[in-house]
Amino acid sequence: MKTLKSESSSQTFKIGETLGSKIYQGICIALKGELGAGKTTFVQGFAKGLGVSEKYYITSPTFNIINEYPARSLTLCHLDLYRLGSADELEHIGFDDLIDKHHIIIVEWPEILDYISFEFDIDINFKFDEDYNRIISISASGQPGTNLISNLSL
Ligand SMILES: Nc1ncnc2c1ncn2[C@@H]1O[C@H](COP(=O)(O)OP(=O)(O)O)[C@@H](O)[C@H]1O
Ligand SMILES: [Mg+2]
Repeated sequence: MKTLKSESSSQTFKIGETLGSKIYQGICIALKGELGAGKTTFVQGFAKGLGVSEKYYITSPTFNIINEYPARSLTLCHLDLYRLGSADELEHIGFDDLIDKHHIIIVEWPEILDYISFEFDIDINFKFDEDYNRIISISASGQPGTNLISNLSL
């Protein structure tokens, strides 16, 4: 596990960008943390690192649940499951079909996926410290996630 302190939104953006720039195939990433903790800011940087065009302005897909962006030869799928009522609704958004080596899936409010025992390659937790900085902990399960994190110079 890597634990980092971010003292500004641009630092959180940069951490996301660094991770994004190391990704060359499909992967699933969970972003946990309270409202305002920096999850969407992280995704904005992550998208830049992946090569998503700056013509897209990335916001939390709270109402549409999923937004997709072309990223080099891959597709970035940004999900926000805050409003999802049950894991059954995942079927309606075609979640299962997204999991392949061309989709990079990054999920805000992923907790509901616990009900279908979904395993992410990388889990990232955002917490506030007493000075309102963000403490970002990155952990991996499985080989692809572990390799990625150990190669991160953060
Ligand atoms: N260190 C930091 N990291 C991320 N965001 C920060 C930081 N410090 C202040 N902020 C501000 O906090 C807010 C984070 O919002 P956002 O990324 O949308 O959070 P979330 O998606 O977790 O609800 C933004 O307004 C951002 O400018
Ligand atoms: Mg958000």
